Amino acid sequence: MKGEESVRTPMRIAVIGSGYVGTTLAAGFADMNHDVTAVDIDEAIVKTLNAGESPIHEPGLGGIIARTAGESLTATTDYTAITDAQLVFIAVQTPTTADGSINTDALRAATIEAVDTLVAGSERPDGHVIVIKSTVTPPKLAALREDVESRTSGSDIDIELASNPEFLREGSAVADFSAPDKIVFGIDSKRAGDWLEQAFEPIIATKSPDVIRTDPETASMIKYANNAFLAAKISVINDIGNICKEFGIDAYVVAEAIGTDHRISPEFLRSGVGFGGSCFPKDVRALIAEAAQAGYHAPLLDATVELNEEQPTRMVSLLEKHLNPAGARVAVLGLAFKPGTDDIRNSRSIPLIEALKKRGAQVVAYDPVATPPMRERFPEIEYANSAAGALDGADAALVMTAWDEFGALDTEFDTMTRPIVVDGRRIIERRDGITYEGLTW
Ligand code: UDX
Repeated sequence: MKGEESVRTPMRIAVIGSGYVGTTLAAGFADMNHDVTAVDIDEAIVKTLNAGESPIHEPGLGGIIARTAGESLTATTDYTAITDAQLVFIAVQTPTTADGSINTDALRAATIEAVDTLVAGSERPDGHVIVIKSTVTPPKLAALREDVESRTSGSDIDIELASNPEFLREGSAVADFSAPDKIVFGIDSKRAGDWLEQAFEPIIATKSPDVIRTDPETASMIKYANNAFLAAKISVINDIGNICKEFGIDAYVVAEAIGTDHRISPEFLRSGVGFGGSCFPKDVRALIAEAAQAGYHAPLLDATVELNEEQPTRMVSLLEKHLNPAGARVAVLGLAFKPGTDDIRNSRSIPLIEALKKRGAQVVAYDPVATPPMRERFPEIEYANSAAGALDGADAALVMTAWDEFGALDTEFDTMTRPIVVDGRRIIERRDGITYEGLTW
């Protein structure tokens, strides 16, 4: 977005936390010519960024960091680098706890450190806005705001806490950052809203996203509602898909037809083995757990998770229609939670492999990129170097990730001992010579 899309008035911006969200944000702002400092406690990450390389794998990010590092983007472990920043974004992890609610220890530590650093050494007479980018539930954001207020109340430095949730998808984070549907500012003052608008000015001017100004807790709820709604949409189409399967109907024909209703829309209607990743499962569980703490049982969200957990089991049931998995050699094609990533967090392949192992199957797994992390998770199963290698001599194949290369498989199925294929992502072509079962079609 360099050049004609540069900001008219560059700002000093700090981004604390150089994970997936923080790095995309810091690089995106630096590319608009803001003067950006990325702060991270991990020296290796700081070194990587300063060397002009991306600490995470995300299409397009490496190129932006290569051209901005040492220019509009610098990285450091030193919090005092934020004292002249107008906007200080916090993008650190908010991991899940045992009951599903989120742990805000790291977020709280980073925010308090930022506040204390600004109170002690602010170089801006007009003050600072600290912007929470991390995904945090409204009650926990409110608690954090109280903490911050109690630390700033005696100070004459004007520090406001705001919220600006992210809606980035893995694999298209750079594109999603540059052309969002909406930008949400959770703010208490017009000043904070205007500063945030200035920061995103080239995107707002060229891509015309909806800009929503609201209070910080509502902004954080918008993030959870967005993800809960999308996750529920997948579980609804999977529920309908399971019914279609029982009725002998193709759920994809049904989905295409109902997607023409603009109130439904064609997006997120791909039924199959369910959703994984770092956001949907975690955010829906957090909302359920923290709603329960507030006294509300969320039945629809409960069912969203429950149905998602059941889809891999349905794959195994379809397999069992044709063979007893005990002792059978079963190929699992696809380990990443979606194509285009090596991320296996909450991948539906994990419960599937567990179910197959429990039934005594001999599992041989393949993924174009996600084998190393899955090998750590399941060191005891076999891994093939190619889809063809996994299929060779297998009694059955279960397809779990919609990698394009699986769609191109053809004569490779001929090497299977018993060519039974259960497709969880509708990526395999039906063909003569194989027994094909679609999960919802
Ligand atoms: C998601 C949200 O899309 C993003 O806005 C948020 O900020 C982070 O979480 P991501 O987890 O990267 O992004 O993946 P996404 O492409 O949304 O897919 C999530 C999961 O849903 C994948 O496992 C995918 O296979 C599954 N999915 C998606 C379906 O099963 N059917 C669909 O129709 C769409």
